[in-house]
Amino acid sequence: MRLDRFLGNLPCYNRQQVRLLLIQRRVRVDGEVVADPLHEVREFSRIEVDEQLHQAGRPARYLMLHKPTGCVSATHDPQHRTVLDLLPAALRDDLHIAGRLDYNTTGLLILTNDGQWSRRLTQPRTKLPKVYRVQTEDEIGAHYVDKFQAGFYFAFEDLTTQPAQLDILGPREARLAIVEGRYHQVKRMFGHFQNKVVGLHRERMGPIELDPALGPGEFRVLSTAEIAAV
Ligand code: URA
Repeated sequence: MRLDRFLGNLPCYNRQQVRLLLIQRRVRVDGEVVADPLHEVREFSRIEVDEQLHQAGRPARYLMLHKPTGCVSATHDPQHRTVLDLLPAALRDDLHIAGRLDYNTTGLLILTNDGQWSRRLTQPRTKLPKVYRVQTEDEIGAHYVDKFQAGFYFAFEDLTTQPAQLDILGPREARLAIVEGRYHQVKRMFGHFQNKVVGLHRERMGPIELDPALGPGEFRVLSTAEIAAV
């Protein structure tokens, strides 16, 4: 939200007062004086006018987890262990998952409390590739490549998938880059060829790669550079 809107929405200032406060350089965002009414503020921003605190801000959190098999990508589940159970209780609050993985899929899972940031990472519009290593039951034919590029019609959603890049690595192994995250997308794509996915591992989401130092079930905080790259 724009800073002038944030301040104008408070019961204590009208629009004219907001303009004056900004010109008089009495407004601070995250400790810095800001005079630009268009300055973007978020729920993570600390906003003060003179000595009065109007929003404390909350710390933004960004984590990568090496998801193991046998847990669900959900924040609550009545039956199964969830990915949140792999994190210390103090870190779990408010987190959501940026792009779920199936129960038996392994690899890169990103958890954050920053919805705007995670939307950039996951929305098809931003075209950030999600890269998977795929193992299949049957051989992967050379003709698959063009079909992945052309797209698959998904009747349930009534859409055709965006062009996807399939690199065949071996008779039953491939690397696949997709820009969407439809329900069971990879399995449904291979399902078109009646070829069952027997192993699925996410290696990368956009600019963020799974840290090879993380074993299954381990996590770390994203670096400033990883956060800024999205
Ligand atoms: N596509 C799938 O089918 N499963 C996943 O877990 C991720 C992508």
